[in-house]
Amino acid sequence: MNVLDFQKMKDEGRKISMVTCYDYSSARAVAESSVDCILVGDSLAMTMHGHPNTLSATTAMMALHTAAVARGAPSKFIVADLPFLSYRKGLKEAMDSVHELMSAGAHAVKLEGVRGHAEIVRHIVDSGVPVMGHLGLTPQSVNLLGGMRVQARTDSEADLLASQARELEEAGCFSLVLECVPSEAARKVTDLLKIPTIGIGAGPRVSGQVLVYQDLLGLNPGFKPRFLRTYANAFEVILDALDAYDRDVKGGKFPSESESYESHPIDRPVAKSADGISRRHRRLCSDNGRAPRRARHAAPALARRV
Ligand code: KIV
Repeated sequence: MNVLDFQKMKDEGRKISMVTCYDYSSARAVAESSVDCILVGDSLAMTMHGHPNTLSATTAMMALHTAAVARGAPSKFIVADLPFLSYRKGLKEAMDSVHELMSAGAHAVKLEGVRGHAEIVRHIVDSGVPVMGHLGLTPQSVNLLGGMRVQARTDSEADLLASQARELEEAGCFSLVLECVPSEAARKVTDLLKIPTIGIGAGPRVSGQVLVYQDLLGLNPGFKPRFLRTYANAFEVILDALDAYDRDVKGGKFPSESESYESHPIDRPVAKSADGISRRHRRLCSDNGRAPRRARHAAPALARRV
């Protein structure tokens, strides 16, 4: 998928699927999936760093996670969030932030709201960087909004949402996230705009959906807003695996003989190959000269560690 496919998919009535992702190993799973694109959201301040909201995300954090995701999912379209206040301190600061995220491997950036930074959106787009807008519940404004609550519930708020959406489209955004707004308000915006809308808590009549990786996999027990569908109970799966491992270690059942190395009977001189790994070491670490099953599926850098 590239940036043009967003518009194409809306025009052809095909839904866009997006998921957040923040690290290399999760990105490898997303890379193998049919999900269309990735958002390295500033929600990583919460999901990966345990902060109560997104305000603690910094450009350096966003760039670090974006680079890890780009290494894990090199063929997916990656949007990275511009963090809190990074695009409100003037054009140079905003462009420095954009530069850092794009250098880390993003293909586009996302920013929240429009009031006071439509010009900056235009400048970023004119600089060759696609921009995704974000309206409705904009978590970076949590203090102004008085909490994480559904937005645009009244007609006048829905009209304001629509006019801000138009402003972002006119500023050059290629798509727009609508977070926690009534379905009807999201439908109106989606019908009004040419560009696609990506909803989260915005009902079904939008051009696509985005969910937080941890939420959709059930890795965030206790978080069950109305809009969330969990597709797995990964927290339980992980917990069961960890407890089973602990039982096996304490019961002397792990590792078994077949999971242990044997010493070589003859002490021969060690021949090293070009990568510095001795042939003997490679043989000892492998299964008849082939990497163990799990390592064969691993990326080359990981396989070499086995
Ligand atoms: O940061 C994030 O995860 C987001 C999504 C909720 C859209 O902005």
